[in-house]
Amino acid sequence: MKILVTGGCGFIGSNFIKVVLRERRDWHVVNVDALTYAGNLENLEGVAEAFPNYTFAKVSIAERSSVDCVLHPEGPKFDAIVNFAAESHVDRSIMGCEEFVRTNVQGTAVLLEAAKRCGVGRFLQVSTDEVYGSLPPEGRFVETTPLHPNNPYAATKAAADHLALAYAHTFGMDVVITRSSNNYGPHQFPEKFIPLFVSNALEGKECPLYGDGAQVRDWLHVEDNCRGILAALEKGKRGGIYNLGGGNELPNRFVAGRILHLIGAPQALIKFVKDRPGHDVRYAIDFTKARLELGWNPVIPFEAGLEDTVNWYSRNALGWVARVKTGEYRRYYERQYGR
Ligand code: NAD
Ligand code: TYD
Repeated sequence: MKILVTGGCGFIGSNFIKVVLRERRDWHVVNVDALTYAGNLENLEGVAEAFPNYTFAKVSIAERSSVDCVLHPEGPKFDAIVNFAAESHVDRSIMGCEEFVRTNVQGTAVLLEAAKRCGVGRFLQVSTDEVYGSLPPEGRFVETTPLHPNNPYAATKAAADHLALAYAHTFGMDVVITRSSNNYGPHQFPEKFIPLFVSNALEGKECPLYGDGAQVRDWLHVEDNCRGILAALEKGKRGGIYNLGGGNELPNRFVAGRILHLIGAPQALIKFVKDRPGHDVRYAIDFTKARLELGWNPVIPFEAGLEDTVNWYSRNALGWVARVKTGEYRRYYERQYGR
């Protein structure tokens, strides 16, 4: 099996590549990543040395000429593409969404065209529960919930899902989509809620909680998500959409409190700040279909996963986190939080 992974230097992509190389020893993995602010070769440190069946190329999926160098009809045949590459942060999409349209929509279109031309076996689109919009206090997202994306990031991800499904319908391509809830775990860029709060608390800095902190997210450990994506790749039905959730519906305020408790930092570091515009109130996933068709279940309990995550950031606080909290990050942080 030879697979092309896009966005493999980001948070979930790098964890996925490590899971695949560990658990599918005879697979060949080609990772293409544009190395944006969120892409970091350090996330795959030692992997190329340890696995001769792994290669990397710096490529933007939005540039057709670059993608054509990797995917062309006379080139190496790929059994599958797993498309992680994306602009992934909601707050950045609220500041400006052009890059989101370019990578998440145009990039997916470029990949789908190339996959069609080259006869790639399966196209797995890594999507998100955010395409469904926001939930009232009751109920969960199922795969047939109508799409109602509320923020620019979610809108671009929904557009990409529609494109992928349209290619399946029009050209008979073998497309599978996974829609997971919020991930957490090692190597997540510290602009997202959990790594931001963990890294700020470790540095003794304030942790900005939006609004009243009552919004609910359904937390899924990244390794559980990666196993789900692998199961969907291997066992998913043609045209199948699979929700992947953690069964951990928790208000942000509670998660913030747990992080500070685990670090031993004062709860007073939590600073209530102006709410995110158009903030989705609640996400919750029904993953019955993935359980029945893929035999998948999340297995990492939230408390244990959060503790491991805090420990990973503590060990790397002076290394990885310091290196990624660079000039671009500081500019973003000042603009977002005004300090
Ligand atoms: P991330 O921001 O950590 O990583 C994204 C990666 O894509 C980076 O390595 C970046 O360099 C790369 N990239 C960006 N633009 C590119 C381009 N034009 N060409 C090639 N590479 C490019 O994101 P993540 O959290 O790892 O998310 C991965 C995927 O999972 C995304 O598609 C996202 O929408 C989806 N997802 C994420 C979550 C979550 O909680 N993080 C939840 C559900 C779905
Ligand atoms: P985030 O990690 O950005 O993921 P998403 O918006 O895709 O769910 O945010 C998770 C939750 O945490 C969301 O309800 C917004 C909230 N949040 C804060 O309260 N403060 C912050 O600084 C950030 C980044 C997020």
